[in-house]
Amino acid sequence: MSTRIRSALLWLAPVLLASPLVAAALQTPSPSNVTLPALKFTAPDAARGAQLGASCAGCHGAGGISKDEAVPSLAGQVSSYTRQQLTAYKAKLLPNETMQNVAARLTDQDMADIAAHFSALVPGPAWKGADAAVRAQGAALYAKGDPARNLIACTVCHGAGGRGSDSLILPSIANLSPAYAEGKLAEYRETVPYAHPSPQAMHAAAQGLTDEELTALAGYLSSLK
Ligand code: HEC
Ligand code: HEC
Repeated sequence: MSTRIRSALLWLAPVLLASPLVAAALQTPSPSNVTLPALKFTAPDAARGAQLGASCAGCHGAGGISKDEAVPSLAGQVSSYTRQQLTAYKAKLLPNETMQNVAARLTDQDMADIAAHFSALVPGPAWKGADAAVRAQGAALYAKGDPARNLIACTVCHGAGGRGSDSLILPSIANLSPAYAEGKLAEYRETVPYAHPSPQAMHAAAQGLTDEELTALAGYLSSLK
């Protein structure tokens, strides 16, 4: 069994237990038959990644901590997810043209080294903005979901602190800007992404969330350091 399939099954187990709706969604075939190319690389060199990653600071911020609401931070991101996103940009499976151009210049080894570098950096401080009551609503949904409405708790996949899982390719979502997080959640609610290892996961998780809940969740995520 490939590591990828094993990974998918590993995180599927708790999900299946948690929600029959999610289980059904996960069995839906992916909408795209374009699959993510596998990367070939040897042991990642974070020091080399730091040199290559210096050019990212202009947009993603010094130390990988973004101050621009439209740009995600890379500090503390799990390396498997950074590799996956860069591969997808290079293969033009993700739409952002700037990132497609950035990724086009990177080799497989470059991506692995860059990902190792950013994963070792400490995520930034909380974003200001959402008020305490809104964050508290987000925190409750994040931790418990809403079984009565088939809303699955985010913590099942992203972990209590939002730091994700490298081995399961689950992104760290701590400290995303409120605008970026809300935009992503709205996107996942409407669409299923390209055929990466778990394309249905976020579509299923975001189904049924109201606009108000997206704002609350985004406010909560932005406060996780
Ligand atoms: C000119 C600005 C710019 C530069 C330079 C840039 N990026 Fe980006 N990057 C972006 C934007 C904007 C996004 C968000 C795109 C979106 O919202 O879909 C992004 C997204 C990403 C993502 C996806 C993150 C996620 O959480 O989904 C990764 C990974 C990434 N960039 C890595 C890099 C790396 C590594 C470099 C340097 C080699 C780099 N970027 C250089 C603007 C930039
Ligand atoms: C079944 C597992 C699962 C659950 C439950 C889940 N997620 Fe996710 N999440 C993922 C996966 C896998 C990705 C990466 C998806 C992709 O790249 O298309 C992701 C991506 C994200 C992203 C984008 C991160 C980035 O840097 O671009 C955000 C934000 C997010 N999730 C928030 C949430 C919130 C909030 C909840 C709860 C409502 C939640 N997730 C529940 C698996 C899950």
